[in-house]
Amino acid sequence: MKILIATFLLGFFTPLVIASALHRNIKNALFARVVRQSEDIAEESPDEPLRHRLECVQMINLGGEYYFQSTGDDAIGDCAMYLQGQPDQLIEIEFKSFDVKCEDAGLVSVVDGWELDGQFFPSDEDRLSFDERYRLFCDNGPLKFVAHQNVAMMHWRIPVATQGFVVNIRFFYNPKPCNVLFGGKTGKYTLTNYGHQNNCSFAVIYPVLVRITGIMIGVDKQIGVASQLQLESRVMTQCEKRGYHDFLEIKSGGMESLDTSYMPSFWKICGAELNPDELDFPLPCGTSALRLVSRGRYFNSVEFQFDELPQQLMDAYGPRMCFS
Ligand SMILES: *[C@@H]1O[C@H](CO)[C@@H](O)[C@H](O)[C@H]1NC(C)=O
Repeated sequence: MKILIATFLLGFFTPLVIASALHRNIKNALFARVVRQSEDIAEESPDEPLRHRLECVQMINLGGEYYFQSTGDDAIGDCAMYLQGQPDQLIEIEFKSFDVKCEDAGLVSVVDGWELDGQFFPSDEDRLSFDERYRLFCDNGPLKFVAHQNVAMMHWRIPVATQGFVVNIRFFYNPKPCNVLFGGKTGKYTLTNYGHQNNCSFAVIYPVLVRITGIMIGVDKQIGVASQLQLESRVMTQCEKRGYHDFLEIKSGGMESLDTSYMPSFWKICGAELNPDELDFPLPCGTSALRLVSRGRYFNSVEFQFDELPQQLMDAYGPRMCFS
């Protein structure tokens, strides 16, 4: 906890800058907290209303009421709460009470996404400009804020004792998820554009082996799936060169960035294949993403599963892909 506080003291309203050597420690600490917190809550009696005191740095994946009250201890400095829902959830942050004064140098901010090392998920490239995603306020906070994906965060600095806030966090169903930050090491998911012009990323924060179990990108919905599949029942690389502007980018972050635009792109694939045989991709770095780029002409989807990366693949690919 000492390291975390000291690190966050470096100041993140400008935005957050964390020495990259500490990045992994913070990440590990954050995710260790998820487990611990879930256990704590499981022990509570079901009749007790859930109202949790926020610590200075915290990861939250359960809805409920949370409060923070400043002790006036300068050493506490800047605090943060990382919110993470399931891939098909959105997050609503609603202030139930707000007593933070600007003239006392108090600040609370809400971020539409996650920020680490001054970088954001989802990337500015795909989602929002800094102004749109970052709301800084004091005195009268906005009462309600809804994030556009399954992650969001709050930062605060409240120097005066007894000032603070009560906030209600709600995770709710998102029928059409686009950008997703996934906190686990194994799972499966289907990325789709629902026929829209957008770019959607599924990001992971552990080294994983991804297996594509079905892909349909750039198949013309006018022609119909069956005939098109016979024509092009294969997965292609060099999509843009071949004139395909919709594709899946497979990225793994050399700098362990949360921002997908900073992750080198190792593969770009498109085409259709319902049961691909050996479409495995090792993603050995600290952060990785599958990014589906769609121009809106096709109904694209890619289905995949992922698992913890085996050590021998880590050794084989890690040095080449992660430290360039
Ligand atoms: C999607 O990504 C492509 C390639 O990175 C980019 O040219 C395009 O402008 C992006 N589209 C949107 C809607 O952001």
